[in-house]
Amino acid sequence: MQNLKDKSALITGASSGLGVDFANILAAAGCHLILVARRLERMQQQQEKIQKQHGVRVEVIPIDLAVPDSPQVLYEKVKEVGMAIDILINNAGVGIYGDFIDIPWDQEKNMLNLDIITLVHLTKLFLKGMVERNFGYVLNIASIGAYQPSPFYASYAAAKSFVLNFTEALNYELRHTKVMVSALSPGVTATEFLQTAGQQKQTLFQKLTMMQSYSVAKIGLETMLKGKPSKIAGFGNAISMFSFRFLPRRMTTFIAYNAMKGG
Ligand SMILES: NC(=O)c1ccc[n+]([C@@H]2O[C@H](COP(=O)([O-])OP(=O)(O)OC[C@H]3O[C@@H](n4cnc5c(N)ncnc54)[C@H](OP(=O)(O)O)[C@@H]3O)[C@@H](O)[C@H]2O)c1
Repeated sequence: MQNLKDKSALITGASSGLGVDFANILAAAGCHLILVARRLERMQQQQEKIQKQHGVRVEVIPIDLAVPDSPQVLYEKVKEVGMAIDILINNAGVGIYGDFIDIPWDQEKNMLNLDIITLVHLTKLFLKGMVERNFGYVLNIASIGAYQPSPFYASYAAAKSFVLNFTEALNYELRHTKVMVSALSPGVTATEFLQTAGQQKQTLFQKLTMMQSYSVAKIGLETMLKGKPSKIAGFGNAISMFSFRFLPRRMTTFIAYNAMKGG
C-alpha cells in the first residue's frame, strides 16, 4: 500500500467480514481510521487491537446506516472527530435470500436504503472535500451478482448492478482529477454475509467458489489505488462474468438460478 501514511479512511461495515480486513490492511499502511457499523463492541475490539498493533488513530462511530438521513448524521459526527476523509470505503451491505414474494417489505426497504441510498449519499457528502483537495479514493463494494439477474437474490443483485454502474460512471466523470472512484465485485466470500442474508446452507456453487475475505479486501484496495473503474475478485469469477457477455440474458439468469437454488 503506497502513499497512505497518515491518510484517513472511513470504512462502513467495519464490524465484521471484509470491513475488518480493509481496516487491518489500511492501518498496516499507516492510515488513520474511522470504523462505522452498528455493533459497537466488535468495533471497539478492533480499535484496541489496531491501535496497539499499528499505532494509528482509530475512531469508532456506531450508527444504523439503513435509517434515512443517517449519512448526514455520520458526516456531522466525522466533522466533530476532526478527520478529513481521504479514503471512503462503502462496504456496509446486506443481502436477503429467498423468493421475492416472501420477503417482508420493511426488510427489503432497509436493504435498499443501506445498499443503494446510503452508499450514494455518503459518496456525495465525502467526495466534495476530496475534489476540493484534488486527492481521494472511494471504493464501493458491488458483487458478481451485479453482472446478471440473480433469482433468490433478485433485488440485492439488482442493487449491486446499480452500485457497479454508478461507480463506473463517477470514475469516468472524475477522470481528469486525482480522485478515484472504484468498484470491487466480490464473488462468494467467507464472511457473515450468507448467514445474515438468511441462507440456511451454502449451495454447491458457493462451496466451490468461496474466497477468503483478506484476499478479496486486498484485491479491492489494490484496484482502488490504481484508480480502476472496477474489478471482479478472483480469476474464476472474472472468467465466468466475462463469458456471460456472450450468452443470452435468459441463459445467464438460468445459470444464476441454479447456482443459488437450494440454499
Ligand atoms: N460475502 C460475500 O459473499 C459477498 C459477496 C459479494 C458482495 N459482498 C458485499 O461485501 C460487503 C461486505 O459484506 P461482508 O461479506 O463482509 O458481510 P458481513 O460480514 O455480514 O459484513 C457486513 C457489514 O455491514 C454492516 N452493516 C449491516 N447492516 C448495517 C446497517 N444497517 N448499518 C450499518 N452497518 C451495517 C455490518 O455491521 P453491523 O451488523 O455491526 O451493523 C457488517 O460490519 C457488502 O456490501 C456485501 O454486499 C459480499
